[in-house]
Amino acid sequence: MKIIVGPASEELGLKTAKLGGFKKIGVINKKFPDGEVYVRLEGNIKNENVTIIQTTSPPQNTSIIQLAFIASAAKIAGAKKIIGIIPYLAYARQDKMFLQGENISINTIAKILNISGIDELIAVNIHEEKVLKGFSFPAKTLSAIPLLAQYFKQKGYDHAFSLAPDKGAMHIVEQAKKVLGGENGYLEKQRDRYTGELTVFKKDFNVKGRTAIIFDDIISTGGTIVNAAKILLELGVAKIFAACVHPLLIGDAEKHILNAGVEKIIGTDSIPGPFGIVSLAPLINNEIKALESG
Ligand code: R5P
Repeated sequence: MKIIVGPASEELGLKTAKLGGFKKIGVINKKFPDGEVYVRLEGNIKNENVTIIQTTSPPQNTSIIQLAFIASAAKIAGAKKIIGIIPYLAYARQDKMFLQGENISINTIAKILNISGIDELIAVNIHEEKVLKGFSFPAKTLSAIPLLAQYFKQKGYDHAFSLAPDKGAMHIVEQAKKVLGGENGYLEKQRDRYTGELTVFKKDFNVKGRTAIIFDDIISTGGTIVNAAKILLELGVAKIFAACVHPLLIGDAEKHILNAGVEKIIGTDSIPGPFGIVSLAPLINNEIKALESG
């Protein structure tokens, strides 16, 4: 299996190729003065199975077009099977029509990628796993939560309280608990579909004097984490960490989260940047090895 290292995941792609001893195919990419995207594959992939590692973090639209162009170039170059490993799959939160007149963005993105040449898609902690069933080609999601929980365990925080900031993240804290031990729980969260405003309902947890880790798939504006931290502080928690797979942290999100009493924000390199502390390379490497053997 050869790995095409997409420009949006260059560091992660190279790390994964090195870890697994995979042959890498580089991508020359540039942007034209008017903003249009250009890619060119370096190397021969004729009759080969290839994986493209390319996240679709901001600027999402550019990353998606790069991925589509890479897949298309791989098809033209004669690749046998093209597997898209997309650490952060953008637009996955618009997974249904919340209001009349909308589209299901994630389904549209999947169609674009499939038409471009991607035969199989592998995401990491996609917001809602069930959306993958709506794709017309094989797709799956991996979970980086055990890796994140392992990070905290190694730092001595086993038996910390794992908190899901909403019910939808409960499966995430179940996975964390398997690594960390300790207890877990969730908050009730509601988001106004027009204004985006969040309302969080307090629950009674026994976190007094303890360390709590808020686990979520994504941190975007930080609002969800800030609200959860407020509640934990009211309940007398001693220390709070925020852990997420996709640390988008838009604008002043970090400042708001730290001001709300969170000690540190730990994310993965699905989003390259300062919060990508835990690497997905071992997870992706295992997946490629599994694909090769079977
Ligand atoms: C939503 O259900 C997701 O799991 C995250 O909780 C959400 O996307 C985080 O967004 P923000 O940081 O803007 O509150």
